[in-house]
Amino acid sequence: MNQEQSALRQQPEPQGNINREQQQYQEDVKVEHPRIESSIESPFQALGIRPELVRALRELEITTPTLIQQKAIPLIKAGKDLIGMSRTGSGKTAAFGLPILENLRPQAGLQVLIMAPTRELAVQIGDELRKFGKYLHFRLATVYGGVSLGPQIEQISRADIVVGTPGRLKDHLNRQNLNLSHLTCTVLDEADKMVEMGFIEDIEYILSYTPEKRQMLLFGATISKEIDHLTERFMHAPVTAEAEAQVQEELLEQFYYNVQHHEKFSLLVHLLKKEATQRVIIFCSARSTVELVSRNLQLQGLRNEMIHGKLSQNRRLNVIEKFHCGQAPILVASAVAARGLDIKDVSHIFNYDLSADPQEYIHRIGRTARAGESGKAITLLSQKDFQAFGDILNRFRVNIQELPLEPFARLRFDARRFDSEENSSRSYHGRSDQNAHRGYRRFDGERPSRFPRREQSQSYQPPRWGSGWGK
Ligand SMILES: Nc1ncnc2c1ncn2[C@@H]1O[C@H](COP(=O)(O)OP(=O)(O)OP(=O)(O)O)[C@@H](O)[C@H]1O
Ligand SMILES: [Mg+2]
Repeated sequence: MNQEQSALRQQPEPQGNINREQQQYQEDVKVEHPRIESSIESPFQALGIRPELVRALRELEITTPTLIQQKAIPLIKAGKDLIGMSRTGSGKTAAFGLPILENLRPQAGLQVLIMAPTRELAVQIGDELRKFGKYLHFRLATVYGGVSLGPQIEQISRADIVVGTPGRLKDHLNRQNLNLSHLTCTVLDEADKMVEMGFIEDIEYILSYTPEKRQMLLFGATISKEIDHLTERFMHAPVTAEAEAQVQEELLEQFYYNVQHHEKFSLLVHLLKKEATQRVIIFCSARSTVELVSRNLQLQGLRNEMIHGKLSQNRRLNVIEKFHCGQAPILVASAVAARGLDIKDVSHIFNYDLSADPQEYIHRIGRTARAGESGKAITLLSQKDFQAFGDILNRFRVNIQELPLEPFARLRFDARRFDSEENSSRSYHGRSDQNAHRGYRRFDGERPSRFPRREQSQSYQPPRWGSGWGK
């Protein structure tokens, strides 16, 4: 049994949404503290979170801790090394961010280092911490590749907290811009992804510059055995805080269509027109597919933006910003947008195809139905995806219903590849492909050699996935 499966077995049934958790938590507070109930202004305060943070949280309409926050905050405040795992959109950023801000000492120099796998995620974590800490005095620097070093050096020199991607952090360390010798806490968000991407050496290198006695926190919706090496080498008696691992079926509905590969695009357009969508993310596993789908949607008059690892940093941040503020209702994305991104009102996720990594499915669909909202994930399956789909069903307890194909118009799909203006830009995080020889997965869904493509014989028949299969 792999680590995820064993974790799932130990899980209680999926917990309620944030509102239900909130209700339960308030009842618990009443039972445990009947006399002081009235003196507790906020459940966050009961967790030892100071009024300045509680005030900022209230302004963000965050009033009651989620389960992972209830479990993790006291342990982190107490200085424990911790592995935190809970479903997508359950507030893991605040679960580590609040106790970190709580423990921060004023004017004590760089104390906290947070690492994340993508630039967008690093920016988001930094923004979220700034919002939580609105009424505290601290300085935070966000560092990532693809932009010049200069302004970052300046920010780092004054920062109490640095959030960044491993490649650029290592760069700064080598240039002696980053002094980690007084660090008290380091966080690896989406740790398994960073390891899987081949950043293990960079992470180990960075951690080797941190004091032996600093606190270390790992967070993710999926934490796989890839992190074992890190926990053994760098964590001291880590405790685990686990909350609900599964998405709630009543909030996140999952469907799939069996469709011929050459008809996927026509079905996608049909569904985009038929479904009552707000914001939509269409995931494709290859960069070239992202570009083709995006361009063909434009040709059909469906305004969209695309994001993948080869676009310039400015363009990537711009695209996310446009999607955030609703200027572009459709985002066609590679795996760079699958992890951690928190964008409001994403009503639909479409999987145009599936990645070979079954975990990615969980993260992709987790871009909708966040923080108690509802959403729909629709996967377009053709024969090429059957192996990946089987792997998802084997590994995770997901409830995906098949939908029958309905009549839809066949559209022209221009499959000519084109060189986007940015295809010649630097590779992911601006690093050379230093880990390619080690067979690590490239982040845009390219397959590493240690996961060889399983050839599918002509006679391969899909298993019959009935409703609720793999539940
Ligand atoms: N206690 C809370 N009550 C209501 N909303 C919350 C609470 N805590 C966090 N949120 C909001 O929930 C959303 C999701 O939070 P966050 O991005 O931290 O989730 P996550 O668990 O890290 O998800 P992922 O696994 O996808 O990274 C954010 O918009 C955040 O502001
Ligand atoms: Mg997160």
